Amino acid sequence: MRVLFLGDVSGRPGRKAVQLWLDEHKGEYDICIVNGENAAAGFGITEKIVKNFVAHGVDAITMGNHTWDRREIFDFIDAYPILRPANYPRGTPGRGFIRIAVKGVSITVVNLMGRIYMECLDNPFVTFDSIYSRFPEDLFIVDFHGEATSEKQAFGYFVDGRACAVLGTHTHVQTADLRLLPGGTLYITDAGMCGALDSVIGMDVKESVERFTKQLPVRFKVPDKPLKIQVCGVSFAVDVEKREVVSFERIRKIYIRGEDGNYY
Ligand code: FE2
Repeated sequence: MRVLFLGDVSGRPGRKAVQLWLDEHKGEYDICIVNGENAAAGFGITEKIVKNFVAHGVDAITMGNHTWDRREIFDFIDAYPILRPANYPRGTPGRGFIRIAVKGVSITVVNLMGRIYMECLDNPFVTFDSIYSRFPEDLFIVDFHGEATSEKQAFGYFVDGRACAVLGTHTHVQTADLRLLPGGTLYITDAGMCGALDSVIGMDVKESVERFTKQLPVRFKVPDKPLKIQVCGVSFAVDVEKREVVSFERIRKIYIRGEDGNYY
């Protein structure tokens, strides 16, 4: 079984990069997961974008601290395979995990959010345990949306041998530590961002630098038709009989805008 996971999709450039990758690799993956919390101009997601992801074969859309940036999400979050972090308090709209049947195997995709330099949600470690205890036979794929490397690494070891994969998101920079942990869990601290390459974590450079030099509030925007866009993520194969990850690779591809406006 082949799995594709793409990191934070940042605005239109990110959506374009994802679309290019999915078109190029049509039919190669049995399950496709993307983090879409920055897909709408960097903040949240719209129903139109969700529909487009689904039409391109995306099976689950994970979110994070930007889940609620577009208030209309409350109207459609239950109608699509969208996951908001599972460790939001009880009663929060939406769901934190989804079970998907692929090739006779039940896969549970879980979205969790870290608590270091982030909102103070419920304990993600405890939340994972409570979900895992309900479906211990499932293959678990976790998007751990967090800022602190230490928290993500600790979580990786905490679920090592129980989760199939722990794929970090949120920092928008792909880390070079994709590996199998001793118990067999595939782990990466951050899968990286899909979006404008020449940007500050997906946002326009000018405004971002201004924010740091002037210390005044600045409205961030996603670069308009950037020269270079990138797709970042992880793909891996699972031997479903043995329940083992048998191969894996980091994905990072850069597309350059041609004179005709298309990316190559
Ligand atoms: Fe985030």
